[in-house]
Amino acid sequence: MNVCEVREIFSAEEIAIQVKMLGKQIDLLYKDEPLVLIGVLKGAVVFCADLLRALNRKSVEIDFVCLSSYGMEQVSSQKMNFSKDISTDLQGKHVLLVEDIVDTGRSMQFLMQRFEQSAALSVRSAVLIDKHERREVDFTPDFVGFRIAGGFIVGYGLDFAEQYRSLPGLYELIIE
Ligand code: IMP
Ligand code: MG
Repeated sequence: MNVCEVREIFSAEEIAIQVKMLGKQIDLLYKDEPLVLIGVLKGAVVFCADLLRALNRKSVEIDFVCLSSYGMEQVSSQKMNFSKDISTDLQGKHVLLVEDIVDTGRSMQFLMQRFEQSAALSVRSAVLIDKHERREVDFTPDFVGFRIAGGFIVGYGLDFAEQYRSLPGLYELIIE
């Protein structure tokens, strides 16, 4: 697979507008109730930092998880696990999972199930990009920045083989 170039699909300015809009929606829903943002490493780190600052509330906790999958080569047969779990007590708090991009939905389905078994008051999700047409399991995000049909997306924290994370906008990889 040869990567030839990247093509911008959303500029840094467009992302900033969407993240602010998501912040307002999240503020409206939770008001001043206790809230924990749980970012999914590594891709969601930039989105999570911006979303945190888009919220208009004095206190919000943050934590992070990192997923690892193992098993057969086919994605559908992979089992998921945490290579990093949270250390925050979720008792009596709302959880908002913050993810960069949803593809098949398997990662988010796993995370939703995991945190629904916790003592959290509620578990919802905010995703920057939803590749909704590629869904293989039943998962619908609560807050979505951008809906796209497909393609491999990099920038704003998202990587291809650990590259392109530092690009300010979102770009589609043009692959030969
Ligand atoms: P899913 O479990 O199939 O929904 O995949 C979600 C995860 O795969 C995301 O957290 C990303 O780490 C990765 N991923 C899926 N699509 C892309 C993409 O277009 N660019 C970068 N990472 C992606
Ligand atoms: Mg990810």
